[in-house]
Amino acid sequence: MKKIFYILLLAFICFSCKKNTETISKRGLVSNKAMVVSARVEASQIGADILKKGGNAFDAMVGTGLALAVSYPFAGNLGGGGFMVYRQSNGTVGGLDYREKAPLAATKNMYLDESGEVIPKKSTLGSLAIGVPGSIAGLFDVHEKFGNLPIKDILEPVIALAKKGVVVTKNQAKRLNHYQDQFRLVNNDSLLFYKVWKENDTIKYPALANTLERILKNGRDEFYKGETAKILVKFIHEHGGIITEDDLAKYQAKWRKPITFSYDDLKVISMSPPSSGGICLAQIMKMIEPYNLSEYGHNSLKAIQVITEAERRAYADRSYYLGDPDFVSIPTDQLISDAYLKSRMSDFSFDKATPSSSVSHGNIEVVESNETTHYSIIDQLGNAISVTTTLNGAYGSKLYCSELGFFLNNEMDDFSSKPGVPNMFGLIGAEANSIAPEKRMLSSMTPTIVEKNGDLFMSVGTPGGSTIITSVLQTILNVHEFNMTMQEAVDAPRFHHQWLPDVIQMEPHSFDKNLIKELENRGYSVNEKDSPVIGKVDGILVLNDKRLEGGADHRGDDAAVGF
Ligand code: DON
Repeated sequence: MKKIFYILLLAFICFSCKKNTETISKRGLVSNKAMVVSARVEASQIGADILKKGGNAFDAMVGTGLALAVSYPFAGNLGGGGFMVYRQSNGTVGGLDYREKAPLAATKNMYLDESGEVIPKKSTLGSLAIGVPGSIAGLFDVHEKFGNLPIKDILEPVIALAKKGVVVTKNQAKRLNHYQDQFRLVNNDSLLFYKVWKENDTIKYPALANTLERILKNGRDEFYKGETAKILVKFIHEHGGIITEDDLAKYQAKWRKPITFSYDDLKVISMSPPSSGGICLAQIMKMIEPYNLSEYGHNSLKAIQVITEAERRAYADRSYYLGDPDFVSIPTDQLISDAYLKSRMSDFSFDKATPSSSVSHGNIEVVESNETTHYSIIDQLGNAISVTTTLNGAYGSKLYCSELGFFLNNEMDDFSSKPGVPNMFGLIGAEANSIAPEKRMLSSMTPTIVEKNGDLFMSVGTPGGSTIITSVLQTILNVHEFNMTMQEAVDAPRFHHQWLPDVIQMEPHSFDKNLIKELENRGYSVNEKDSPVIGKVDGILVLNDKRLEGGADHRGDDAAVGF
């Protein structure tokens, strides 16, 4: 009897041990055919409904993008711009640049005072911060090239949402209340948003519904040449801005070849300039590829060191070499070549941090001839898109055109107003990203698609200014190196280094104190305070059985909808 008792006890202990050592994995929403993940459930739902109606990922991109302009005015927009990377079911890849442009009247020193100093807030707040918006041009170009459904079927549910209104979440109420003073500072009319907001209030957008109805009736040109263009230009001028009807009429989105590179058995497809995302991601991943990250462990001392050092070197190159490719020549092939990146890491040691003061851009001979939201969609046919779109700061320039119903961007701050002076993300730029009429400002947006062994594997991206690139990087590594589910990969604590300032930003209360001490002992400065959120990643992973797993970042109100 006693013997049986001991055997049972042993079996129980073994069983408990096994259970305790098993990693409990947290999966996001899993669906069989198609999925949309975005910053708001209303937008994901409109995208998924479009797919159900027989639309493809490109139709759903247009619907989701415009639904974000309604449900997430913090970053979703008609008055901003963005980038899209796609992979069709037949494996064809491409990218679209609908980034804002500097107005024709912009000048290199427009944000400097007489003594050549940057005038605070001039490039971030109010009418002079606005770049010529690209979103409507981009969405209509996508629909024209790849769309399946009539534009009416895509726009009508968005217009209905604007009329019915959107319920305010707790996060949104907090943000709207936080920015009241700035709204008042730059707008001189009675703004829709002036009031103390509470969770579960509803905001209706009749003016935006009217604008969208006109766009539905008259097409893309309504925004760039029609009544909407005229109202917009008049409004901007009344507020001291310089964008003209000519600026809007000349705006064109551009199809661009994405940056593609391999990492182990993955092929990564990401955005090319004027976004720095693809090149920086390629540089960082190629620099860390020779190291065995999975052996070091997720967020371990060694993994953080290797990643930080690669990030430091890539951001130094970003600052010097990258800008609008229509204005500056970028040595892309050299920047992402194995030989160059190997030499970039040759002075790295696990013993001691490389101070940023001793790291400059690498040596390459240039031959003469530069608040955001992300959504991912995979459709039932196997097409994938990855879209990041922005007004830049929260609610952009804070200038809200009441007659048209949308905020205008403050994207001009992404230019380098003066070499060596940091912008709102602390990024330092050089001549390649200086202001010129009709030039696109350098971006960090990194909409990315990943293939594994030739098949679609992931669509991923995030907002977060300069932290976008490193957040996308860590999410891919979390799945590939550290075997996380999509949801775990998105939720895991993140860190970030961007060359200057020479500091590792870490999400507060997420990293072990001893680990931070160890990093400091090796010469790294760690800051857990200034950046409470590093990215807000949304992504979709193709599982082994071909089902789709959504990763909607728990840091926001993000939501996956699929079927
Ligand atoms: O294009 C860029 O890199 C920036 N305008 C992105 C801004 C952003 O992500 C703000 N969101 N947190």
